Amino acid sequence: MYDKGQAQKLQQQTIEWLAVAIAKDNKKYSSENIEGLRDVLRFHEYRYYVQTDPLIGDTEYDNLYKLLEAFEKESPVIITADSPTQRVGNGLVSIFLKVQHLVPMLSLANSYNEEDLLDWDRKAKELSGQPEIEYCVEPKFDGASVSVIYDNDQLFRSATRGDGVVGDDITQNTRQIRSVPLTAKFSSYGIEQIEIRGEVLINKSNFKKYNDRLIEEGIPPFANPRNAAAGSLRMKDSAAVGKRNLEAFLYHISYIIGTDNRQPTTHSGMLEMLWDLGFRSPKKEMLVVKGIDKVIAHIEAFESQRDGLPYEIDGMVVKVNDLQLQERLGMTSHHPRWAIAFKFKARQATSKLLGVGFQIGRTGAVTPVAKIAAVQVSGVTVTSISIHNEEYIKEKNLMLGDTILIERSGDVIPQIVKSFEELRDGTETAIKFPTHCPVCADLLFKPEGEAVWRCININCAAQVVERIIHFVSKDAMDIKSFGDANVRKFFELKLLKDIPGIYRLDYEAIGKLEGFGKKSLENLKAAITSSKTQPLHRLIYGLGIRYVGENTAKTLANVVGHLLQFSDYTEEQLQEAEDVGTKVAGSIYKFFHDAENLHMLEELERLGISLKNQKKQVAENDSLAGQTFLFTGTLSQLKRSEAEERVEKNGGKIVSGVSSKLNYLIVGDDAGSKLEKAKKIQTIKIITEDDFIKMLPA
Ligand code: IVH
Repeated sequence: MYDKGQAQKLQQQTIEWLAVAIAKDNKKYSSENIEGLRDVLRFHEYRYYVQTDPLIGDTEYDNLYKLLEAFEKESPVIITADSPTQRVGNGLVSIFLKVQHLVPMLSLANSYNEEDLLDWDRKAKELSGQPEIEYCVEPKFDGASVSVIYDNDQLFRSATRGDGVVGDDITQNTRQIRSVPLTAKFSSYGIEQIEIRGEVLINKSNFKKYNDRLIEEGIPPFANPRNAAAGSLRMKDSAAVGKRNLEAFLYHISYIIGTDNRQPTTHSGMLEMLWDLGFRSPKKEMLVVKGIDKVIAHIEAFESQRDGLPYEIDGMVVKVNDLQLQERLGMTSHHPRWAIAFKFKARQATSKLLGVGFQIGRTGAVTPVAKIAAVQVSGVTVTSISIHNEEYIKEKNLMLGDTILIERSGDVIPQIVKSFEELRDGTETAIKFPTHCPVCADLLFKPEGEAVWRCININCAAQVVERIIHFVSKDAMDIKSFGDANVRKFFELKLLKDIPGIYRLDYEAIGKLEGFGKKSLENLKAAITSSKTQPLHRLIYGLGIRYVGENTAKTLANVVGHLLQFSDYTEEQLQEAEDVGTKVAGSIYKFFHDAENLHMLEELERLGISLKNQKKQVAENDSLAGQTFLFTGTLSQLKRSEAEERVEKNGGKIVSGVSSKLNYLIVGDDAGSKLEKAKKIQTIKIITEDDFIKMLPA
């Protein structure tokens, strides 16, 4: 797509435009060279979304994008339909128009084992009269199938699969997917119009993040990334689609107008053409081999890598590589004969919904948990599944006694995909939600606008126990040897009643309990003592303030010198912290204005738990204030820990990885990947240990 010379030129221009962006010098550039800025943005979109190898950080990209937006706002006449700013839709789509695909979107025949593949290969060989066939093998991406049409090099239309003949026009939403270029030089291959098929995906980590947020907000999560991708494509608000970080792999050309001998004659050649034109085709994931044996070997090898991929695949697709041969083989009434899908072992299973229990979380949220007949899904026995909330139960139309389909994808917790209503025999009963807390018997309450019922008695035993479990957990105060079971046991035996109680345990009484030898008691004691000096962010996270996850806790820890200072903060002041919006600020404010909470914190301090931000305390001067540092390789004059301490003592910050947020990378001997990564981000200053020492005050 971009040769070395072009890439270098665009990177040079990036630096120039970044300087303009930083100077906020909107006048400096005229409308004539604005296309140059667009090219720079397109180049970085390509590096990030197609090559997945960015050259600049997110902030730099945002700055360039905002600069283009500012120019275009100033003189709207210069806006072009393919400007990177024009992906974002304005307004809502009221309905999706029905559109006919240029060529029906067929599905593939499935195969499940070696035999099926050998059979299919035998038939293809018979029909073609060839002794051995060249195949292209690709992953079978597990997302939502779409078509995109380019007309005279412009993205013209995109549609869902629908019934295969007619789909929904989702052009505006597809424009939000940054790996789908708005323009592509098909004309350089003599192509006037082209219809391409592909799969829209949401990667595993975005899916998890997205679902966690839904669950936190009491909104039913998606059962799997495929449903999340399909659901996202059907949203009416295309700007919201843009925020879902959808990705697309384009893997099949279904229609071409414009005959020309510049067009590839093989399927793999087409995937290369797409890649060269700026699409994310499976060029890097495909394998071209002769003969079915090599296909089978590759499929086996690929399946073992399945869990390590960033996105879900549910099998592999084998395609005859020669396009002429594809045409000769043609199709049956349902499927093309030139391709076959190989399906991996299912991650779904059916089970029975036997009962529902109700758990109270640390924030009082009532979570219904389905008890199901034990079933194996991808190697794990599942006996219970969270069914989130009342709305979810209604939406999935779940009843006790139902036969259900469950799925466990990647490291995501199992979910119910659906219930089989057609299998009901009339003995099924409705799931009844309790009106009172099953633990403390208080009346349950559902705040307006929320989907979750809550027990609002903050002294409810279930909540107290869950709060203690969270406090001692690995990502919070990390008190090893104090697992969930011990917390529950001590609580039941009244040896522990609240968080400060952890530091007042009666070890003599615990020593008398079964299973508590001298050694385990000592371990527990030591772990509790060492937790007293955990960094402040762990304590903040451990307090379990609603909406305050680990990242927000880290941000908050750097805001104050002592935790109790938050009791003087207004909601507005809290919102000044990075990533703290109104909802989060409201929750933090409430926590630090609750007398019981403040009392608990004072008690913790009396018991020796540090509420101070140790790092903030020790800064002796601020010569490095506002700057971030990272060390890599072996230093020769200072120890790594010493060097880091010097940074902090002078008001600088150590960051954990190379990103656009890093200002200085200090390079020692044998520096590795961090240096390589930093070289790609122009704003990072790469310096030696000597340079660093010179920066420190004498
Ligand atoms: S080729 C004419 N290639 O799997 C056939 N399909 O039934 C064109 N899929 O509906 C499809 N990854 O949505 C093809 N690398 C891949 C694919 C793929 C996923 C989907 C596609 C299709 C279904 C097969």
